[in-house]
Amino acid sequence: MSRQNIYDNDVFFQNFKSLREDEINFNDVIETPIILHMMPELTGKKVLDIGCGMGQHAKQYAGMGAASVLGIDISEKMLAFAEEHNSAENITYRRLAFEELEKIEDSFDVVTSSLAFDYVQDFAGLMKKIYGLLADGGRLVYSMSHPIATAYDGTYDRYTRTESGERLYANLRNYGEEGLRKIRWVVEGYELYHRKVSTLINDMIAAGFVIEECQESKLPPETIRQYPGKFGGVMHQPDFIFFRCRKQA
Ligand SMILES: C[S@@+](CC[C@H](N)C(=O)[O-])C[C@H]1O[C@@H](n2cnc3c(N)ncnc32)[C@H](O)[C@@H]1O
Repeated sequence: MSRQNIYDNDVFFQNFKSLREDEINFNDVIETPIILHMMPELTGKKVLDIGCGMGQHAKQYAGMGAASVLGIDISEKMLAFAEEHNSAENITYRRLAFEELEKIEDSFDVVTSSLAFDYVQDFAGLMKKIYGLLADGGRLVYSMSHPIATAYDGTYDRYTRTESGERLYANLRNYGEEGLRKIRWVVEGYELYHRKVSTLINDMIAAGFVIEECQESKLPPETIRQYPGKFGGVMHQPDFIFFRCRKQA
């Protein structure tokens, strides 16, 4: 099974870190408000954050009253940052890949993940493992890159633009062809997996989940107008997709 650990690549890590720390970034401006809005009440809950990265969300969940947060990630560099900047008494960070979830001997009220499932090869298997880790009635709340975005295979321009560079429309090719995409993003050979929206939905249902909510990333038009270079694509295509689902009691 292919298991990329690109976040431990120095160049990739530094680039990701500076994007994530930029005051106006995709995570804080687009992803975080939507996923926090979709979270169930966390007071007294046991939370697992898969692909926790630098720990910003783990810290938020601890601050929202979670009894405990376990953050797991494959990257030593991301976890070192999390330990240094986003630790709390009730947060534990552990180096573990999502292909090794069976090593966790515990159950959780809420399993969450932000923008990490793009890297999962066996999504159907992951959904089943998460279902097994949840207490009855527990919730899985996650975001990942939207299938319209992951379809991109690096062989064409993501946007058709005017002569002055303004995005006119988004381009889409080979949406129906699922599987590994190797593209250039900061480094050559950045790997992610593309799957259709219907595959995500059917894999959650096959694992036993009841899907409660789905969201696609969006921004107020004023924000897009304020930062056209950064968010100009958002009016044409969603970058992220979000689901909240429940383990049946
Ligand atoms: C885009 S970052 C998101 C980090 C964090 N959730 C956030 O929202 O800022 C994706 C994270 O997934 C982690 N990751 C990638 N492949 C993984 C794997 N096989 N097992 C565990 N974590 C993985 C990366 O190391 C990285 O920290």
